Amino acid sequence: MSAGGPTIAEQLQWMTDELDAAGVFFGHGTDNAWDEAVALLLSVLAIEPANAGQELLAETLDSQQCEQLNDLLKRRIEERLPAAYLTGEAWFCGLSFKVNEHVLVPRSPIAELIESGFAPWLSSERAINRVLDMGTGSGCIAIACAYAFPAAQVDAVDVSFEALAVTRDNIAAHELAGRVDALVSDIWSNLQGRHYDLIVSNPPYVSAAEMAVLPAEYYREPILGLQAADDGLALVHRILAGAAEHLAEDGILVVEVGNSEAALVAAYPEVPFTWLSFEHGGSGVFLLDEQALKRWFPAPY
Ligand SMILES: C[S@@+](CC[C@H](N)C(=O)[O-])C[C@H]1O[C@@H](n2cnc3c(N)ncnc32)[C@H](O)[C@@H]1O
Repeated sequence: MSAGGPTIAEQLQWMTDELDAAGVFFGHGTDNAWDEAVALLLSVLAIEPANAGQELLAETLDSQQCEQLNDLLKRRIEERLPAAYLTGEAWFCGLSFKVNEHVLVPRSPIAELIESGFAPWLSSERAINRVLDMGTGSGCIAIACAYAFPAAQVDAVDVSFEALAVTRDNIAAHELAGRVDALVSDIWSNLQGRHYDLIVSNPPYVSAAEMAVLPAEYYREPILGLQAADDGLALVHRILAGAAEHLAEDGILVVEVGNSEAALVAAYPEVPFTWLSFEHGGSGVFLLDEQALKRWFPAPY
């Protein structure tokens, strides 16, 4: 970096102040203005987050870098675009994913479960040969599962052709073409005869009432990835209805339902959902095993 411009610390502080003053919403990969500014900066400098250290702060930016950053900041504020759509990249489980406005910005707390190999819910002794990511979007959960379970074949399923184009780009970028398949399916419609040791889903689950009060940044994401009818549960009902049919013996189903947790519990008061807890924040993710699904949501659906 050439001398003469502001230091990175100065630039980041200025961007942080601008973001705070503009009242933008954080929640698409970062939760505060400083981290959001850092995400934009690292993208312009083409530095991976894992390689960014404190020593960077004293370096100076050249005029071209400042101009690029100022443009990104202006768009972040004026268009309320989440930073990931501006940079075209998001991070999940420490992995880089291409994103655009056809896919949700990856941020599911399910990342923490993947990083722990779904322990203790899946024993390390159990062979994980088949994994399904229902509603894959960018493919982040499917691809991170392929890294976590090196022997597994993973189906990355979505109803959106535009989203699946992004999934396929990410599968190729991670060189997982032989192990992760991007498939179009309206929930279970194209998955007849397929059985999985692990089914993971972060489906659309935002109710119309919740959608109406979400900050502008969420309206930059595909509505198909966010909103669902029936108090946010329309897709979750369908996932539950078919999961027993598609789980292998002793397999597990893990589904994120976010703030629709209360509506789900009210809809199935007798079902013993296991609600998972997260060290790094997040809630509204349940687990049911094959036995419980067979009992409470018996096939055929
Ligand atoms: C909340 S996004 C999750 C994306 C990604 N798994 C993640 O965690 O970032 C939900 C995804 O479900 C997909 N979807 C919506 N309706 C669907 C359906 N009927 N069948 C399959 N996928 C669907 C959307 O296109 C979207 O990509």
